[in-house]
Amino acid sequence: MSRSNQFKRTVRTHVLLSVAIVMAFIMGSAIIWNQYNTYMHDSKNLDTHGNLVVAMYTKVLGQLMWDLNYNDIGVMLSALQKDEVFRYAILHDSDNKILAEYGTKETAKNDISYLAPIEYLDDGQKHSLGNFKLVLTRNKLIENIQADILNNLGEMFLILMATLFAIYAVITIFIARPMRQMTMMMNQMAEGDLDRSVSYTRKDEFGLMATTFNTLTKKLRQNYQTLENRSAELEGANKDLETARSMAEAADKTKSQFLANMTHELRTPLNAIIGYSEMMVEDADELTTEDFVGDLQRVISSAKHLLALINDILDISKIESGKSTLDLEGFELKELVFDLESIVGPLIRKGNNGFEINFDETLVEVYSDQMKIRQCLLNLLSNAGKFTHNGKVTLEVNREKTNAEDWMIFKIIDTGIGMTEKQLKQIFNPFTQADQTTTRKYGGTGLGLAITEKIARLLGGNITVESTLGEGTRFIMRLPLKSENNPVLSSANQV
Ligand SMILES: Nc1ncnc2c1ncn2[C@@H]1O[C@H](COP(=O)(O)OP(=O)(O)O)[C@@H](O)[C@H]1O
Ligand SMILES: [Mg+2]
Repeated sequence: MSRSNQFKRTVRTHVLLSVAIVMAFIMGSAIIWNQYNTYMHDSKNLDTHGNLVVAMYTKVLGQLMWDLNYNDIGVMLSALQKDEVFRYAILHDSDNKILAEYGTKETAKNDISYLAPIEYLDDGQKHSLGNFKLVLTRNKLIENIQADILNNLGEMFLILMATLFAIYAVITIFIARPMRQMTMMMNQMAEGDLDRSVSYTRKDEFGLMATTFNTLTKKLRQNYQTLENRSAELEGANKDLETARSMAEAADKTKSQFLANMTHELRTPLNAIIGYSEMMVEDADELTTEDFVGDLQRVISSAKHLLALINDILDISKIESGKSTLDLEGFELKELVFDLESIVGPLIRKGNNGFEINFDETLVEVYSDQMKIRQCLLNLLSNAGKFTHNGKVTLEVNREKTNAEDWMIFKIIDTGIGMTEKQLKQIFNPFTQADQTTTRKYGGTGLGLAITEKIARLLGGNITVESTLGEGTRFIMRLPLKSENNPVLSSANQV
């Protein structure tokens, strides 16, 4: 409310002040102009009057002086004092002797004075008898004008007041009041009461504004209603989503739990199958019933494949459900790397391949998860060996140090079958192999790279791959020299 009041007061004050200033200026100028003209006019009249008096007096005084009628001269001059504009009169004879003198000798600046010679014509001869000086004052004139100005100012003040009052009333009735009503209404609406409408019936600008305003509020009301409906819908949808999410979470947990349990339960009988089959192979050897050996070997190899698959599934489900913990410690990386040779070396050489390890000696002690790095490198190297024949597999281990970070870089390079762009895109997805014939030809589960990639990220690093079909493949695994615990496994690449 205080704001609308202030606004109203400001508009009103501004209008009134401007009108007052303009009117005072115009009326003041009119008064000055009018009084100046009056003064000029009256001055001129005064001058005419003076000239007339002087002309008359010199004529009459000439006669009286010739007749030496000093008595009448005195009467005439003293009569001048009755004129309200008279100030001073003096009569000299031809010897410059004062014959008569009336009034005050000190004259003011705006007095008008006349000096006229007195002559007498006798028998056609002119006689110079003396001179007559008359001084008239403009004081009376100025007094009149001053009184007039005061009167005018009084009138002007009354007119001004009347006008200002009229304007005040008009502004109040036609502008301030409707404005206040409307502001009040808007305030109520701003506080949330949208059911209001402005009732203003006069057909002026405010009437138009009120109509527009009412249309606006109606629209607003509708929009608000729509919004409320929408937000109710959204709320419902959110609730559904929330329920769906918790259900999905529960299902996910159940799945992980199920997988973990299942794999564990599957592994026990499988190990038994493998163990007993191996014993049976030995027994079969002893019994020289070698017919069985081939079949038994097939049982063993299938069981081993199944075991590998189960282990991989266990691994990946552990990582995905966030149950895979890091076992961080300081260790000699060099030892780990050269130990690989004895594990994958034979596998790689089986395909008639060379195997070479280049190790950067500046990589002394690192702080990471030894078992997990080994698992990754075994996966990558066994892939390289599996998909390369009559070629070469190289493992390069380097250190890459930037200002903020220290990395160990593992490059697994082979000259094997390579992959196409399309194949490259999906090899990190679980259960996916570059092409369908791979399984038939090379075996495998399609889980190795998925697990390796997830472990690399778990350790705070990543894996990239470059490959050319028929020429070879290069996997690059970057791991921080010093891994941190509980790194966030980004969901970006999760499937
Ligand atoms: N060094 C490689 N050269 C060519 N293809 C590869 C290489 N490494 C991986 N691949 C392709 O990526 C697929 C996925 O590999 P991986 O996840 O380890 O599963 P798997 O080895 O069980 O097939 C492989 O089946 C193969 O098609
Ligand atoms: Mg593999």
